[in-house]
Amino acid sequence: MHLLIFLNSALLLVAFAAAVPTKTTTCTEEPAATTSSAAISSPSIPYSVVSVRSGSPIHLLSMQARNQNFYLGGLPGAYCPQPPLSSCPSGFDTIFAGLGGLSALVPGGQAIYARSDGSFGFTQAHSARYPAGALIGGYLTYSKTDGAQFGSLGTHAFGATGFMACPTEDQGYQVFAAVGNATAPEGDLAACLGFDALTVDETDLERGAWQYI
Ligand SMILES: *[C@@H]1O[C@H](CO)[C@@H](O)[C@H](O)[C@H]1NC(C)=O
Repeated sequence: MHLLIFLNSALLLVAFAAAVPTKTTTCTEEPAATTSSAAISSPSIPYSVVSVRSGSPIHLLSMQARNQNFYLGGLPGAYCPQPPLSSCPSGFDTIFAGLGGLSALVPGGQAIYARSDGSFGFTQAHSARYPAGALIGGYLTYSKTDGAQFGSLGTHAFGATGFMACPTEDQGYQVFAAVGNATAPEGDLAACLGFDALTVDETDLERGAWQYI
């Protein structure tokens, strides 16, 4: 399975590289700069997240914030107070910031938490409130090789070994920490699928939202 994941990542890389204009090289540059591979464990650039589990219904879906939860696929729940604002980012993508934040423009931002049932949620705009027993901060991991196209997001919330997605009645797959005592939405933990969470740097915040709902 890991080989398949690697192959899929490699395919993504190839697809991505094809879209990027080729850089003109000169002969005066320092040699072999691309072989240095400093590891980054804290994201400095906002990012989106894509699920990777080949041969499954959750392969290559965007992780989206909506209904105070996170799902794979579909659109985010986004809100633009217009007026008074004259315009907002498109609200078509969920963009993350740092380890445990949404890249929402609303003053105060929006934080992501892990509920004790294993699901993830996010604070409402203008509020720092989160449910009793939830973890806020310190439960996510990030790794990326300096200069690489993609990074990897992980979680050890409540002793999890990573992420899983569980089917819901009408919202596709919901994102959970992969813990044995998670409360699966349909009551069937065996229907949940573990997945790798690939991160993609996002510099165009017009793709994000003023506020996620
Ligand atoms: C699940 O187990 C973790 C780790 O023991 C615990 O912190 C969490 O509260 C448990 N969740 C529920 C819903 O019992």
